[in-house]
Amino acid sequence: MIGKGGLGKSVIAGTLARIAAREGAQVLALDSDPLPGLRFSLGSGPEPAEPLLLQAVEQDATGRFGWRQGVTAVSAAQRFASTAPDGVRVLHCGKVAGDGSRAAAGATKAVWEVAHGIVDAPEFREWTLIGDLPAGARQTAEDWAPYAHTYLVVVQPTVQSALTARRVARLARQQSPDAAIAFVANRVTTKSDVPHIESWIGEPVFASLPVDEELATAERLGVAPIDHAPDSPAIEAMRRLAAALEAPATR
Ligand SMILES: Nc1ncnc2c1ncn2[C@@H]1O[C@H](COP(=O)(O)OP(=O)(O)OP(=O)(O)O)[C@@H](O)[C@H]1O
Ligand SMILES: [Mg+2]
Repeated sequence: MIGKGGLGKSVIAGTLARIAAREGAQVLALDSDPLPGLRFSLGSGPEPAEPLLLQAVEQDATGRFGWRQGVTAVSAAQRFASTAPDGVRVLHCGKVAGDGSRAAAGATKAVWEVAHGIVDAPEFREWTLIGDLPAGARQTAEDWAPYAHTYLVVVQPTVQSALTARRVARLARQQSPDAAIAFVANRVTTKSDVPHIESWIGEPVFASLPVDEELATAERLGVAPIDHAPDSPAIEAMRRLAAALEAPATR
């Protein structure tokens, strides 16, 4: 899940994770954004004082973070994930109270290590991995989603957003030539929105989601959108998106 800020990446990532889990998949969500977007959309509960993943790492004399003795990417993913509704397992990097920027960097680094360390691990071969990257292109450029078969690039119907989406998609293609790129138009209000986006990005839009105030209401109430308004138009559209992603062309 990649794209510009505030577009709906976290809402879509969290909801797709919940939908996949309800359909019987074992889902691991990798949250590499210190902001709590994915926590809200999954409904994975209040943020702990510090990220669980911090327990998996330690700093060496030069200040670099690495796994604590005995910890591996696989064991960190198994031991330091928390459980969200529907059994979704999630690794949050989160933030740290007070002056925790250094420590938060440790948890973030751990997410990167897990993402790379579990790609070929037999323990996760059957799992569905869903990553929610923060806004912008930096993590895409740094290969934060080496497990991705498909990058969903979220784009809203503005020229600005479309240009960003195009740039992020280009980076993702450089980073992962074998991965599919699927543009998801979000906050669509009129029939012409999708054709406009397609003309701006020069590629087809894979799925579109309507603007849906229930999503914002869910966030205000602190409830996962899929729990607050399971039948709302945007959640229905995400179910269709999940089904389309299961189709062979995007796998
Ligand atoms: N289709 C939609 N209709 C109405 N509101 C939406 C829609 N999609 C997302 N939102 C709202 O927009 C806000 C931003 O969504 P979200 O946090 O998922 O974006 P993001 O891309 O993850 O942002 P960030 O870059 O800050 O992580 C949220 O309040 C969410 O409820
Ligand atoms: Mg987000």
